[in-house]
Amino acid sequence: MKGIILSGGSGTRLRPLTAMTSKQLLPVYNRPMIYYPLNTLLKAGIKDILIIIAPEHAGNYLNLLGSGKEFDARFTYEIQDEPKGLAEAFIIGESFLDNENVTMILGDNIFADDFSEEIKNFEKGGRVFAKKVPDPERFGVVEFDNDMKAVSIVEKPKNPKSNYAIPGLYIFDGRVSEFAKSVEPSARGEIEITEIQQKYLDRGELDVRTFENEWIDAGTFESLHEASILVKNKLDEKMII
Ligand code: G1P
Repeated sequence: MKGIILSGGSGTRLRPLTAMTSKQLLPVYNRPMIYYPLNTLLKAGIKDILIIIAPEHAGNYLNLLGSGKEFDARFTYEIQDEPKGLAEAFIIGESFLDNENVTMILGDNIFADDFSEEIKNFEKGGRVFAKKVPDPERFGVVEFDNDMKAVSIVEKPKNPKSNYAIPGLYIFDGRVSEFAKSVEPSARGEIEITEIQQKYLDRGELDVRTFENEWIDAGTFESLHEASILVKNKLDEKMII
């Protein structure tokens, strides 16, 4: 299993903080934000990790994370020149992945849960997670039938068919780069990760697992603040880095 941390984007909603550095390097309580998704991967035993970054603050990532030796891991870096969508990570990372299974986590997603088992026992297809939220229209949304079987995945729907959002933690098998290359850009000009999930779903190969503990997409001032509180109260003692 290989790992990708997608840490691109321009962080416009967090200006002026993001004029100095990348969103995913901002402090969340006592660590840079990216330490939390990195912790999720390292805890699951993933040692070979591609970090995808925007060109503006690339040097900061090298200064902070380096080769990965300090974390007993190996880091590779790639630049995402423009924010063309989350699924572009699988195209940028195609040679790094080399048809192996991958867990991708977004650099601004912080989870209270430990997903090590779900990552370690993954074999093939796709596996994503779903959590009930009050504002599903901000996210990828999964619709379930009466037996809680996933029937559709839609990116930021105006009229969501459920309250279940899909957070930025995705496990896919070696077909993901090929699937990503066949996705057409959406109206917002992005290769949407929800389209990849839909492709696995159409083949009956998407495992969607619900969870209840905290998950924060720390992309706004409000959620950045909440994330610091979550870390201070709950997560700090469970961190391995
Ligand atoms: C992205 C994905 C969305 C997912 C979310 C999780 O949204 O497109 O499907 O639910 O991350 O944080 P965006 O970062 O574009 O708002």
